[in-house]
Amino acid sequence: MCGIMGYVGENAASKIILEGLSKQEYRGYDSAGIALRCPDGIESAKIVGRVSELVRRVEEMPSECASAASGIGHTRWATHGGVTETNAHPHESVDGMVVLVHNGIIENSRDIRSTLESQGVKFSTETDTEAACQLLAVLYKKCDGDALAALSKLTAYLTGAFALVIMIRDRPDEIWCVRKGSPLVTAFDGDACYCASDPTALLGYTHDLFFLEEGEMAALASSGIKFYGFDGKERGKSSIHLNWDSVMADKGHFEHFMRKEIDEQPDVLRLTIDTHTIVTNVAMDKSLTLPKGLMKRVRRVQFVACGTSFYATLVAKDIMESLGSDLDISAEVASEYRYRNVNGGEDTLAIFVSQSGETADTLAAARIAKSMGTHCIAITNVRGSTIDREVDHTLLSMAGPEIGVAATKTFMGQISLLTLLAMSLLKDRGVLSANDEARLIGGLRSLPVSQNAMLEREGEIRALAEKYSDSKGFFFIGRRECVPLTMEGALKLKEIAYLPSEAYAAGEMKHGPIAMLDERLTVVALVPDTDLREKTLSNVEECRARNAPILLLASDGDESARTYADDVIFVPRTEPELFPFIAVIPLQLFAYHTARTLGCDIDMPRNLAKSVTVE
Ligand code: F6R
Repeated sequence: MCGIMGYVGENAASKIILEGLSKQEYRGYDSAGIALRCPDGIESAKIVGRVSELVRRVEEMPSECASAASGIGHTRWATHGGVTETNAHPHESVDGMVVLVHNGIIENSRDIRSTLESQGVKFSTETDTEAACQLLAVLYKKCDGDALAALSKLTAYLTGAFALVIMIRDRPDEIWCVRKGSPLVTAFDGDACYCASDPTALLGYTHDLFFLEEGEMAALASSGIKFYGFDGKERGKSSIHLNWDSVMADKGHFEHFMRKEIDEQPDVLRLTIDTHTIVTNVAMDKSLTLPKGLMKRVRRVQFVACGTSFYATLVAKDIMESLGSDLDISAEVASEYRYRNVNGGEDTLAIFVSQSGETADTLAAARIAKSMGTHCIAITNVRGSTIDREVDHTLLSMAGPEIGVAATKTFMGQISLLTLLAMSLLKDRGVLSANDEARLIGGLRSLPVSQNAMLEREGEIRALAEKYSDSKGFFFIGRRECVPLTMEGALKLKEIAYLPSEAYAAGEMKHGPIAMLDERLTVVALVPDTDLREKTLSNVEECRARNAPILLLASDGDESARTYADDVIFVPRTEPELFPFIAVIPLQLFAYHTARTLGCDIDMPRNLAKSVTVE
């Protein structure tokens, strides 16, 4: 939530910062601002709206500012204080000494504010951030202009989560970065220093990045970066090479990032399989060396995540169960796990799934699990992210940068890696049969071709999305392996088309929700040709009898499915457990085309941000 970009070097900072902000706009997009070191001091520009609007505002700044060689910028997802120009970042201390941007929430901002106000400091915004800004100015003065000492004191006062990027009026050659709880990455390309919330903003300059750790600060100058702990002691730091291609973060010929990312899924799957299998065998051990005997020892596997990543864990749970796991397996949303009295310890393996690796609830859950002695594995898309650095083992999903706010290809990266991990764990335990191993690896290998066949049916799905876009709401129903998909299908429609959509296990409809059905509430039923086909079709019949229009997803060749539905989307056949790998594509495309028909902002849906770094 919120994107930050900073630059200090010799080139025009405004252009670099604005480009960096537009690459991170998915992190928050209700307002934006920039501060530049102009010849007469630090000048700011702020707007309510998108970065494109900020670009226009910067063009109106004095011409000397256009060539300013350092500055900081911010794109906001409001937490404290309404969406107004005043509340937009950067914020400036009342004496004009400190200008800063912030991502996170300063939890004790009210206390700081009232203390400072009682000392006569005048606040001008409603934000939590301003408390940090005004306090730093006071501390800087008290420390006689020693920035490091003032920042050490500031970090000792502040509670909550904060990535701060700071300019100080009388220190023209520096930008300061402070990190606790919210991500911040820095880089030096030989001529200039950069910092950002998200590494994708820096890939056009260098692929060697320095991710700030919890409790770390950095001083950026055109000559390089110095790193410090919150205690003010300088520390060494190694860079991490991120081999993402910067064009991966471009839209190419697609109208939206989301549509491009849907298309990339067969490649994500292929890459994951090629990396982690040998012929018909799982080969996760190349990248995952668990302590000897761990899998024999554990009794319990806990999957923990939020949102779409959570639904990916439900797919994995189902696969483990279908393979005859003898473990006690649970999947739980991180925001609940962290506050429940969960079991843990040496007999427990917890698997945390987070695309960004920065989701506040997932991180908090992982810290709790670790503190109980639970062995923790993370699956994330971002090397160097907080979760990557904090758990015992990380498996990197191979989706590449995902820019659309709605997760698509990262879901595919997660379910493919989770499936292989699940198989590998059961194999270690001696539970996976050779037959199941060969069957599922063979199935996974043939999926990209089937996924491409599914993508080719986009025209049909678009027509159906247009037809059903005036529904007053949707029910997604299915059984067993389809249940996680009903949730993902409903979530995609909610987040990008803003349509009421519910997910229900098909057998549950008659226990209440069926009362809602009428001719304006569409039921999307997932009915692959498995042992549960007839049972699910009976539930479909019950919905049809209440006049609900039925859109059915059925297996290729299941012609009789047509008699149960108004419309059918046929899905290529695969192993039963792998149905979600193909069927998620028509659900993503259905949501995409519904949102497009309704004129919604697909890549940046209202009220959302890609990386949820607050609780
Ligand atoms: C939905 C979506 C969110 C995320 C959730 C977790 O399309 O993107 O539901 O899945 O916020 O985010 P990560 O995976 O970064 O922890």
